[in-house]
Amino acid sequence: MHILLMGPPGAGKGTQAAKLVEEFGIPHISTGDMFRAAVKEGTPLGRQAKEFMDAGQLVPDSVTIGIVKERLAKPDCQEGFILDGFPRTTEQAEALDRTLQELGIRLDRVINIIVPDSELVSRMTGRRICRGCGATYHVKFNPPRTGSICDKCRGELYQRDDDREETVTKRLAVYQAQTRPLIEYYQDKGLYTEIDGQQDIDKVMSDIVASLKGKER
Ligand code: AP5
Ligand code: MG
Ligand code: ZN
Repeated sequence: MHILLMGPPGAGKGTQAAKLVEEFGIPHISTGDMFRAAVKEGTPLGRQAKEFMDAGQLVPDSVTIGIVKERLAKPDCQEGFILDGFPRTTEQAEALDRTLQELGIRLDRVINIIVPDSELVSRMTGRRICRGCGATYHVKFNPPRTGSICDKCRGELYQRDDDREETVTKRLAVYQAQTRPLIEYYQDKGLYTEIDGQQDIDKVMSDIVASLKGKER
C-alpha cells in the first residue's frame, strides 16, 4: 500500500502515520522528521534545513527532492510506504511522479486530513515530542501519563522550535500558498480523499483505514 498523507501543519499526519505503521507494517517517511534528525546530528543538510524550518518556510525543492528520492530507492519502499509531508509544492509532486515511475511504484491513495486553522494553532502550540523515541503528545488532547515523560521510553518531552505561535502562523500561510494547490493535482489523478481530522485520534484512524480498504475492493 503506497499512501500519501497530506494536511496542513498540525493536522495529525505524524500521529496517524504512527498508527498506520502498526496496522500495515510499511515504512513511515516524513521529510520533517528527516530534517529534524539531520539538525540533531549537526550535518550540513541539518544546518541548511534549520534556517528554513525555524522561519516557518519550506526547505528548497532541490534539497528536499534529493533526500526523498534517495529514501524511496531503498528496497523496503517496494511493498509500501506512508509519505508524510511530501510533496508540498507542485515541483515536488512532479518529481515524485517521475521517481515512482522509475521505481515501478503506483500511488494507491492521497489522504488529506482536514482541520480548521484555529484548532491547528492549539494543536501545534500544545504539542510535545519525546527526545528518546520521537513519540508525539499534546498537553491537553493527548497527554502522557506522568508529567513530561514519554509513556513508551521514559524519555524527556520537548517543544519543537517551530511550534511557537508566530512561526505556526507563518507555516499555515505557507501551506495555503504553496501546498494547498496540490489538492487539485491529486483530484485530477482520481487519488484524492478527504478525512475529517476534527475527531478523536482513533476515529480519524478508523476513517482512514475504511477509506483505504474501500480502495482495495
Ligand atoms: P513537518 O515536520 O512535516 O511539519 P508539518 O507539516 O508542519 O506538520 P506537523 O508535523 O507540524 O503536524 P502533523 O500533521 O504531523 O501533526 P501531529 O500528528 O504532530 O515539517 C516541518 C518543517 O520541515 C516545515 O515547516 C519545512 O520547513 C520542512 N519541511 C518538511 N517537509 C518539507 C517538504 N516536503 N518541502 C520543504 N520543506 C519541508 O499532531 C499535532 C498535534 O496535535 C500533536 O500534539 C498531536 O498529539 C495532536 N493531535 C493529533 N491528532 C489529533 C486529534 N485527532 N485530536 C486532537 N489532537 C490531535
Ligand atoms: Mg508531523
Ligand atoms: Zn519516547
